[in-house]
Amino acid sequence: MPEIPVPPAPEEDAAKSPVIDTPIRRQVLVCTHTSCAANGSGAVLEAFRRILADEQLLFHKGNRKGSVSCTHCGSIGFCAIGPAVMVYPDGIWYAHVQPGDVPEIIESHIKGGRPVERLVRKRLG
Ligand code: FES
Repeated sequence: MPEIPVPPAPEEDAAKSPVIDTPIRRQVLVCTHTSCAANGSGAVLEAFRRILADEQLLFHKGNRKGSVSCTHCGSIGFCAIGPAVMVYPDGIWYAHVQPGDVPEIIESHIKGGRPVERLVRKRLG
């Protein structure tokens, strides 16, 4: 049986990957797979990034104090009801998200902790 490699110590990884020691508290994932992309998820992702950056909330190389990570992701099975957006650690899955919904999601959910119920289709946990 092959030997299982021992991973580096957490401190060693933190030195190589500074994101580990940042104040990220929420993660926004926007599906950009085929169906969601066809329904405009690229513009949704762009709206999240722009507004979060304007409010100094977006974590990126130029703002390592940002508390929100925002990235694209692959399909999560909401293909017929996309664009899909997930917010963690809350485990909230939104459907039918349009760029015009993004300010409300940021204000109510990301900043206020209250999901935008009219767009919520699944809750994890
Ligand atoms: S393509 Fe986005 S959920 Fe399937």
